[in-house]
Amino acid sequence: MQPSALPLGIFDSGVGGLSVLRAIRQQLPHEDVLYFADQGHVPYGPRPLEEVRAFSEAIARFLLAQGTKLIVVACNTASAAALHYLRQTFPDVPFVGMEPAVKPAAEYTQSGVVGVLATPATFQGALYASVVERFVNGVTLLQHTCPGLVGQIEAGNLDRPETRAILEDALRPMLAKGIDTVVLGCTHYPFVIPLIQEIVGPGVRVLDPAPAVARQAARLLEAGKMLNIAAAGPKSGKLRFFTSGEQEDFIRLLPRLLGEDGPLERVCWIENQLVVLSPPI
Ligand code: DGL
Repeated sequence: MQPSALPLGIFDSGVGGLSVLRAIRQQLPHEDVLYFADQGHVPYGPRPLEEVRAFSEAIARFLLAQGTKLIVVACNTASAAALHYLRQTFPDVPFVGMEPAVKPAAEYTQSGVVGVLATPATFQGALYASVVERFVNGVTLLQHTCPGLVGQIEAGNLDRPETRAILEDALRPMLAKGIDTVVLGCTHYPFVIPLIQEIVGPGVRVLDPAPAVARQAARLLEAGKMLNIAAAGPKSGKLRFFTSGEQEDFIRLLPRLLGEDGPLERVCWIENQLVVLSPPI
C-alpha cells in the first residue's frame, strides 16, 4: 500500500480527542483515521506522568501495528507525559502533540491576565513550563485544574448544573482578576465551550487549539508526501474507533460529540499491551 493511503492515528484518554478529530475532519477530509480512547484509564490528569507515558507508548505501538502513518497525541496530558519520549522511541514516525495555547493567548490579551484550564499532570509537565518560560513575558497566568470536569464530559453531561458548578468555581475568581482570554489546555474542554462562554461573557476569548493541531498534521503529511490525494469526494476518509472502556458509552456519545460515527472495537489491556477483544459494533 502507498504510504499516503495509510490511516492517521489519534489517541486520548477518552472522548476529548474527538474535539481534535472534528478539526482534522475539516482540514483533512480525505484521510482515513483510527481513533483510540483509553477509557479504561480515564482520567489521565491525576495520574503520575510515568504511568501516562507507559500507556501512551503502548497505544502508539498498537496504532502503529494497525499501519498508521502519523500519530496525533490528541491529549495535553499524554503530550506532557510522553511526546518527547514517543519521538525518541519511534524516530521514523511523525507525531503531532498538544500544548496549552499560551503563546497565542499572550499575544492576544489586552488585560494582561489569561486563564488556563488544564489537568494537574499537564501543569506539572516540562512542556507547560517551557511554553510559559518562552512566551509569557509579563502576562499573568491563572491556572485551574477543574476537578471532575473530564468525568462529567465523559458522561455526556455537557450542560448539567454539576458541570456548570465546576466551571463557575474555576472561572469566577479568574474573571474577578480581569482575564480576557481563556486557554483550553485539555481536549475534553472544547465540548463545554458554550457553557464557558456563557459564564465568561462575550468579551472573553476562549482558545481551542484543535484547528492549529489539524493544520500542523496537514503540514507534516504534505512535507512527508503522505497526503491522501488519491481519494475523491467530500469526507471520503473512513473512521474506525477503539476503546478500552465500554463500547455502549462511547457509541452513545459519538454522534453528539463528533457529528458522525464509524465501527467501534473494544480493546483490552493485558500485561501493559493492547489486545482487540470484540468484533466491531
Ligand atoms: N483530554 C485530556 C487532555 O487533553 C486528558 C484528560 C484526562 O484524562 O484527565 O489533557
